Amino acid sequence: MPEVLRDRAPAKVNLTLEVLGRRGDGYHELVSVMQTIALADVVEVVLGAEPGIEVTGPWAQGTPTDTSNLAWQAAEALARLVGRRTNELRIRLEKYIPPAGGLGGGASDAAAVLRLLGAAWGAPKEAVCTAAGAVGSDEAFFLVGGTALVEGRGERVKPLPALPLHGVVLLLPSIHIEGKTSRMFAALADGSFDDGRHGFALASRLPCAIRSNELYNRFESVAVSLFPGLDEEWRHAETVTGESFRLAGAGPTLFWLGPGDEATQVAERLCAAGFGGRVIQSVTTGPTWKR
Ligand code: C5P
Repeated sequence: MPEVLRDRAPAKVNLTLEVLGRRGDGYHELVSVMQTIALADVVEVVLGAEPGIEVTGPWAQGTPTDTSNLAWQAAEALARLVGRRTNELRIRLEKYIPPAGGLGGGASDAAAVLRLLGAAWGAPKEAVCTAAGAVGSDEAFFLVGGTALVEGRGERVKPLPALPLHGVVLLLPSIHIEGKTSRMFAALADGSFDDGRHGFALASRLPCAIRSNELYNRFESVAVSLFPGLDEEWRHAETVTGESFRLAGAGPTLFWLGPGDEATQVAERLCAAGFGGRVIQSVTTGPTWKR
């Protein structure tokens, strides 16, 4: 009988995202306070089933159903490290997180697979972390979740006092560009790097109440030149809501974050202004699994 393992894979927003400089290995040194939100994919790993990957749900389109999917790569990476095989392993993803928007959906799915298989296979924690790093830079955060300070390439994750519940309103992009994350990093001019002060300051204030105008994302200035039309949409969203919006990760999703009881009004104003269908209301959340 196949055994079905199931977990939720939450999206994230970066409350702060600073880029400290380029490293010798081509990656960039980061300081970021990351936060999971309630919007989540559902990830199933079926043991003892025909190998492969199935993708369903409202955001299935655009998610790879072959071995290039990060969730599959995560399973392969961990299997290699602990001497297991993936030939009787099926992954099912139910996608609620819009892809390629800066919300970390693919990385979170991969981390969910690592949590599930790590437990099922009794894999050492180090192997799970190594597999996460082999798949991508955001995966390590998603092994931890909640509110965390993320440093290095993304692999150094320190849990922080949890941000109290806040409302989050996502404004999904109408624009997609290929290879967006590496292009965003490449667009950062030499000498215009950050020193981590935004992230460290927020980390020392937590737990606290915040709103989006207090947040920081280094990519905002380059995003408006890289994503055609983003600047106009951004300003329009801020005008109709009277609120500040931030770029989610490497974008191009924009988000508002603030008191939970204000979120519905922000979302309604966006919908009334013609953004309906591209608005998702959510809340900040701690990890839904045991750390
Ligand atoms: O690691 P991941 O696949 O998520 O990163 C995608 C791309 O973003 C990398 O190929 C790299 O160009 C860039 N990146 C970076 N520094 C980081 C994370 C990502 O330069 N810390």
